[in-house]
Amino acid sequence: MSDSFQDLLTIYRKRIDSELLAIVNSHEPAYLYEPVRYVFEGRGKRLRPILLLTVADMFDVSVDDAMPAALAVEILHSFSLVHDDIMDQDELRHGQKTVHRKWDDSTAILAGDAIFALAFAVLSRIKINPLRCVQALSDATLRLCEGQALDKTFESRDSVSLDEYLNMVQLKTGTLLSLCCRMGAILGGADEQSEGNLAEFGILLGQAFQIQDDVLEIYSNSQSMGKSLGSDVTTMKKTYLTCRAMETDSEGWREMHSSMGGRDLESDLLPALRNYFEKKGVRSAAVEEVVRLSALSGRKLEAFSEERCVSLSKFADMVITRKR
Ligand code: IPE
Ligand code: IPE
Ligand code: MG
Ligand code: MG
Repeated sequence: MSDSFQDLLTIYRKRIDSELLAIVNSHEPAYLYEPVRYVFEGRGKRLRPILLLTVADMFDVSVDDAMPAALAVEILHSFSLVHDDIMDQDELRHGQKTVHRKWDDSTAILAGDAIFALAFAVLSRIKINPLRCVQALSDATLRLCEGQALDKTFESRDSVSLDEYLNMVQLKTGTLLSLCCRMGAILGGADEQSEGNLAEFGILLGQAFQIQDDVLEIYSNSQSMGKSLGSDVTTMKKTYLTCRAMETDSEGWREMHSSMGGRDLESDLLPALRNYFEKKGVRSAAVEEVVRLSALSGRKLEAFSEERCVSLSKFADMVITRKR
């Protein structure tokens, strides 16, 4: 990654972090605002607002003008994670206890609700095309919820095809990355075709990002990711790896699967799964799929000049090669 892009990321992150903290200025009732502030202080990577600022910059929109939308997407993302952690019963997020574990489910549901409202409150500061931005944000929220619904529905299914999986991650993850690109384009007054291309770029990048996340969930560790790993396995989530194993080695995967109960996650189950996915070529298939989707996403940028896309292409490379 070039130094100038790295510098830009640092500048964007600093600004986003401080603006996020300034958003919550109420303190009472503490039942509500303590957990809300706690969420905003977490160490998220801020990828979505950075993506939005990067796309806005392609159309010469200033950071000041794009910032309300950038904050709104990060806040929407934070809300989705607070509720997602309850749904996935996870204990760690952004290097700290999840809200429902530090407090309880009621506190986390309410904090999530308030954070969701804050996303719209911040977005209302926007000066360019506000109505279209609000429509895009509310539509994306619905799609994200649809994806989360499929994710939960799939837990109780024996098998899920790779196409069904890709549709689910398009909704639960692609939607938000696509929203960032779409809002950057809306702010920049892009024509319909450019907005559409960027929105599709975001969906494909989001799918690649989620598959990379599925791989990291098995091959990385909780400390560097700053979140609980392994819930995918223990709650029978359908990830790219498990769907692929089911499609290409259904007998072997069923056998592996039936031997999973009662084993210690860190010392026994994860090493066995790593070994299985490696040996059966499932891990390499996932890596190839990330590369395929990323190449497809790159094609959506062909209509723009290379010069305009420099930072966006670097962002995409960073996302698919990330280790946390
Ligand atoms: C986590 O996304 C949720 C997924 C869609 C996998 P991020 O990895 O971007 O979340 P942060 O950076 O921890 O907030
Ligand atoms: C999170 O998906 C996606 C949303 C919150 C919409 P996951 O449940 O797969 O992500 P992690 O592993 O908790 O970050
Ligand atoms: Mg989830
Ligand atoms: Mg989760």
